[in-house]
Amino acid sequence: MVLIGGQPGIGKSTLLLQMALSLKAKVLYVSGEESEEQIKMRAERLGLAGANCFILTETNASRVLVLAEELQPDLVVIDSIQTLFVPYIDSMPGSISQVRECAGELQRFAKTSNVPVFIIGHITKDGAIAGPKLLEHIVDAVLQFEGDQNYAYRILRTLKNRFGSTDELGIYEMQAVGLREVSNPSELLLSQKEEELSGSAIGATIEGLRPMLIETQALVSKAVYGTPQRSATGFDLRRLSMLLAVLEKRGGFPMAMNDVFLNIAGGIRVDDPAIDLAIVCALISSLEDVAVPANICFAGEVGLSGEIRAVNRIEQRIQEADRLGFKAIYLSKYNIKGLDTSRYGIRIHALARIEELYTALFV
Ligand code: TYD
Ligand code: MG
Repeated sequence: MVLIGGQPGIGKSTLLLQMALSLKAKVLYVSGEESEEQIKMRAERLGLAGANCFILTETNASRVLVLAEELQPDLVVIDSIQTLFVPYIDSMPGSISQVRECAGELQRFAKTSNVPVFIIGHITKDGAIAGPKLLEHIVDAVLQFEGDQNYAYRILRTLKNRFGSTDELGIYEMQAVGLREVSNPSELLLSQKEEELSGSAIGATIEGLRPMLIETQALVSKAVYGTPQRSATGFDLRRLSMLLAVLEKRGGFPMAMNDVFLNIAGGIRVDDPAIDLAIVCALISSLEDVAVPANICFAGEVGLSGEIRAVNRIEQRIQEADRLGFKAIYLSKYNIKGLDTSRYGIRIHALARIEELYTALFV
């Protein structure tokens, strides 16, 4: 059993319908969300015939399973768990007891028939989920489909996997004809701009197993009304507050009086602590209104006392930056021990503390 979680409208149905229509295997696609007509229109839009895909619009889980036993598919897709119900429980579809019971029925089916079941589950914006959270214990794998609806990029992350690694990750672009795999994410996540602008810095991050160069953008401006505003898109707000406090206290940069807005390009969410250094640079660059020189990127975690800490897989990060034609990469001095820097064309700068950043970059 595989759970695919994600916010409404992010593309879960598209992803699984695309999979169902592309496979040679016999697939039963159960939808309680859309009519057969709507699904057919979507399939036509995707340009896939799917001769072996059976569509069932049914929300009664018991009936779904009777039909599944009859059809004997190689794979079942449920879109979504929140629309299913069992008639012997007296509560609404989507309620905790219905979600739990339907998942239990599906699990019994999966275990006895040995047929894989993919379950779609909606989650809300803040990740608070009545349904899918309680499902995470039942299912064998949990995949999360994320991204910002205003952007085309989507990331499919593995949160749990009973049978393998959780490091794998899929990156897609939502197009008019469905989702397409992005095989070279770095090149897409860097905004192509002509001039150097203040407030932007590029981080050499790793998502799953993939190195990705991602642009971070900051705007630091004098707070006009009372309490300064802080906002972050694609990055943890508490971590931003921490970085601002470190810049203020250890670097002497007057952040407290300013409004601060932070944005990760492409609507992507970044968890990799190595992005800290790029964010700190974007913040300083915006505060001082000087641009970070082009073709430079960063990889380092920033600690509470302003130290720049080593990050994992540094060689992979350097290689990717080198491959994309960056001239220099800034990283922690604790990262270069044992590193053969002559192997790369890119210049490698090692820093110990954030105080060194300003002189290293702008003086
Ligand atoms: P959908 O798969 O319905 O999202 P979910 O099941 O997670 O709620 O996809 C939602 C959006 O994707 C919808 O706003 C339209 C867009 N879309 C495209 O841009 N191209 C396409 O080919 C398809 C099918 C959808
Ligand atoms: Mg859907």
